[in-house]
Amino acid sequence: MNNKQKFELLQSTINEALKGGGETRIESQHKKGKLTARERIEILLDKGTFQELGMFVIHRSNDFGLEEQKYLGDGVITGFGNVNGRLIYVFSQDFTIFGGSLAEAHAAKIVKIMDLAMKNGAPVIGMNDSGGARIQEGVVSLGGYADIFYRNTLASGVVPQISAIMGPCAGGAVYSPAITDFNIMVENSSYMFVTGPNVVKTVTHENVTQEELGGASTHSSKSGVAQFTAQNDVDAINQIKKLLSYLPQNCEEFVPVENYSQASDIISELNNIIPENPNHPYDMKEVICKIIDEKSFFEVHKNYAENIVVGFARLGGRSIGIVANQPMFLAGVLDINSSKKAARFVRFCDAFNIPLLVLEDVPGFLPGTDQEWNAIITNGAKLLYAFSEATVPRITVITRKAYGGAYDVMNSKHIGADLNFAWPTAEIAVMGAKGATEIIFKKEIAEADDHEAKLFEKEQEYIDKFANPYNASRMGYVDEIILPEQTREKLIRGFKMLENKAETLPKKKHGNIPL
Ligand code: HXC
Repeated sequence: MNNKQKFELLQSTINEALKGGGETRIESQHKKGKLTARERIEILLDKGTFQELGMFVIHRSNDFGLEEQKYLGDGVITGFGNVNGRLIYVFSQDFTIFGGSLAEAHAAKIVKIMDLAMKNGAPVIGMNDSGGARIQEGVVSLGGYADIFYRNTLASGVVPQISAIMGPCAGGAVYSPAITDFNIMVENSSYMFVTGPNVVKTVTHENVTQEELGGASTHSSKSGVAQFTAQNDVDAINQIKKLLSYLPQNCEEFVPVENYSQASDIISELNNIIPENPNHPYDMKEVICKIIDEKSFFEVHKNYAENIVVGFARLGGRSIGIVANQPMFLAGVLDINSSKKAARFVRFCDAFNIPLLVLEDVPGFLPGTDQEWNAIITNGAKLLYAFSEATVPRITVITRKAYGGAYDVMNSKHIGADLNFAWPTAEIAVMGAKGATEIIFKKEIAEADDHEAKLFEKEQEYIDKFANPYNASRMGYVDEIILPEQTREKLIRGFKMLENKAETLPKKKHGNIPL
């Protein structure tokens, strides 16, 4: 028999591997509104580019009846292929085989593609749909998880890692997605928790459903564990493809700049976006969308800590990360969750050479016992630290308020921003006029016949002096006061000027970010 004939004999084994856990289980997967592991890979990758690795791998256990159940592939499909012509590595857990549970061989297949991804510098996409550690295999299942967690950590900052949660993800299994850069959860068919509803009931006597405890909506709005949610598997995969388009392949590369031009870079609508009354809100997302290339905003963590907006966009064809205070929510104040959300995003962009644009309108940090007792000090410092250590090109535009410590934190020149523009409506000061006046003119106000009139008079004095960008500009803290309509043009030129920026941090093993 020649090679070809020998290979043809393998066809029946290949067919067996392709059918996963069998028709009935595939049907049951479809009934739950889920795709199979192979269908997911097919949608993710460019047609004909999937190279599977380890299709014939089986487990080595003979306990608890496993000797009679050996499925080719051992419940996970792994390999590499292209997304929009760019290489990625992928694993897709197959719930039709042992509930996608992870054990020795299953883990080894995932480890293999992670090692390849790190050596060859391309993103890893994990599609999770698993009952967790395979109970019958005992400690080797736990070891397999740890092997993956370890590589997730080593790969962090080397290649982008994206996790899609498309079914169960419970127990220690959650810690692999937790270490990866982005989690996307499918609504109504996925959940993540360390301990499920039954254990919760036993320990805390709380009655909670799987969906309430760890569904997509919970993790995208309450806990912040998931940066994205999707309506179904196809939507999730399409979002992954879109996300990849903003990212480089690895930490040594840059995102390719696309050809993009529009009729004019002067956006006159921006001149009227700030309300007359400085206490009235406006939608910062409207500002973002007018500045960037048309329809290029891809928001991250949309439903979590909405007082800060983060996401990817293109500016003159260049991929950038945006961090922007949102006056529509809590007046755009910085609090614990918004600081954590923005800090993580800033660190991701910095790790992967994505320039940062900051749009600033921040009245300060949120006061209160809840914030203080839950460590706004440590958490606010995360954002300060993240910006301070970022060496990618960084530009700030102050649209309105830049008060107090938040002025320093939000990518000020003092912590390494490369360019800082301000609109004429910018107010750069230690605090808002009323609070400041009440403190520094306390005596004068108390002694006045008409307290209210005196307060108003002093407030006006303070506003005239500080509610503007001129003082900061005289000090060089603001590089230029620009008309809002010029913002896009200034930013495109600014990022172009900074495209070869090279900055290194002091030599160290690693810093100690206030976790
Ligand atoms: C072995 C498992 C399994 C597991 C599911 N199966 N989970 N086999 N180990 N962990 C098998 C089932 O026996 C079943 O096999 C098939 O997968 C489908 O499971 P069903 O229960 O029929 O499906 P469904 O009703 O959809 O329920 C899915 C489920 C449930 C909620 C995930 O199976 C479940 O609760 N599984 C156990 C989850 C768990 O406790 N895992 C360990 C977590 S601790 P048949 O042959 O009947 O089709 C953990 C530690 C990790 O993971 C620590 C890392 C440090």
